[in-house]
Amino acid sequence: MRERVVIKWGGGLITKKDVLKQPRLDVIGSLADQILECNLLGIDVILVHGAGSFGHLKAKEYRLAEGRLNPSDSSTLGPMTQDEAIVEVRKDMLELNKHIMEALTKRDISAVSLPPHQWANETGADFKGSLEHFIHAPKGITMVTFGDVVSCEGDKEFGILSGDDLVARIAVEVPHVKRLIFAIGGVDGVLAVPPMQAGPDDLIEVLTTEHVFDGEHESAIDVTGGIGLKVDRGFYVAEYGIDVTMVNGGHPSRVLDACLGRVVRGTKLHPSSSISK
Ligand code: IPE
Repeated sequence: MRERVVIKWGGGLITKKDVLKQPRLDVIGSLADQILECNLLGIDVILVHGAGSFGHLKAKEYRLAEGRLNPSDSSTLGPMTQDEAIVEVRKDMLELNKHIMEALTKRDISAVSLPPHQWANETGADFKGSLEHFIHAPKGITMVTFGDVVSCEGDKEFGILSGDDLVARIAVEVPHVKRLIFAIGGVDGVLAVPPMQAGPDDLIEVLTTEHVFDGEHESAIDVTGGIGLKVDRGFYVAEYGIDVTMVNGGHPSRVLDACLGRVVRGTKLHPSSSISK
């Protein structure tokens, strides 16, 4: 069986985060080159991408992460209803996904996209949905999925399933996954101090659960959990003996090196205990 790696492309890396629906096609293209390299070296990739400005801005405006609001609260939102906003965000995410699928197919990478609103429900690390298509993906096929608006049970009705939650279950439940790579935008990994104050020595190269790090995230823009959520889900995965590394995706060769298990500038997560997969 070929080795598999799971890669999360952060939304802040592949889109201009504060401008509505602006993909960074050059970045997407060079990251796609690295997937091709992996395939050529015999590694299958499961790609999960974030939303950036194709998801967070409208999801925030219409408070989609909170689920169904009562009528008095929803009247304070923008001109659309929450239901209309769900349709729009799902459509916008499919549009971002299309850019990514085009970048992959342009490089002759055989890729299959599985939008979560079609197969997953509930949010958080124990979201529901069968991973059989990821598990049974034929050799050489890149399976792709992404953060999305999904249905939820009960009064909540819907919520936002983050790509960080998707990678956690996928890495642990799909056999032969050796590594999980978070490719993030703007920083080299997890920093000890806020990015604006950070120098090259502030990168935490090996992060343990005892570390204090800068977990600040742009809650003004993000509806999911920023670096704190990645670290949390990353430790969960690392406990199963899977290598978890965060790298600056603005340097695509680092993503490839991390996929191959080479030493790379970034943050490696060191679990406190280990469970066998
Ligand atoms: C968020 O997914 C999905 C939506 C807002 C629709 P992620 O949590 O994976 O996205 P990024 O990586 O933070 O952009």
